[in-house]
Amino acid sequence: MGLTIAIDGPAASGKGTIGRALAAHFGLGYLDTGLLYRAVGRRMLDGEDPIEAAQSLRAEDLEADGLRGPEAAQAASKVAAIPEVRAALVDFQRAFAAREGGAVLDGRDIGTVICPEAPVKIFVTADAEVRAERRLRDLVAGGHAVTLDEVLEDIRARDARDAGRSDAPMRAAEDAVRLDTTRIGIDEAVAAAVALVERAG
Ligand code: C5P
Repeated sequence: MGLTIAIDGPAASGKGTIGRALAAHFGLGYLDTGLLYRAVGRRMLDGEDPIEAAQSLRAEDLEADGLRGPEAAQAASKVAAIPEVRAALVDFQRAFAAREGGAVLDGRDIGTVICPEAPVKIFVTADAEVRAERRLRDLVAGGHAVTLDEVLEDIRARDARDAGRSDAPMRAAEDAVRLDTTRIGIDEAVAAAVALVERAG
């Protein structure tokens, strides 16, 4: 089995960019697990029962329109608090983590629940204001009409819901290394993460 890298952290902390960069650098597969919850959230917004949606999630659901937007994000964090939804998504994530060539997974519970045995665990953080500015740039670039205040409120609501739920709350695994990206650019953050993986290997 190849190397598994578990990356967790709150919205817009930089974990996705770091995860993709590590996967490219070390030649590993990459899974953005937030997309699974966003896809279930999307189907709930379309009127489906979230548990049934999670149990019947298809690859094409991950390509639905609007998954990166704020509406799908809020819906994702609501369905993510339902234990049956989380349970339905475990096998797919673990199978991805065990793929032969190795994998990077990013999310909220990868180091704590999905891959507790991963040899490299990184918990990426940043101040909420900085994360809101980053997310605003992404959303505006993606054609969404939102304000900084709305994005900040959205991020705080999700942080509280994700950290406060009883099943698989967002938190750093005991053996995770924390990487605070508040004051560093993405290149520096990626370089720090690469160094960390090299040290671990
Ligand atoms: O990472 P992203 O912001 O796309 O995640 C959307 C939502 O999905 C999060 O706010 C969280 O509620 C949920 N999520 C989760 N566990 C994961 C990944 C995402 O609960 N492993």
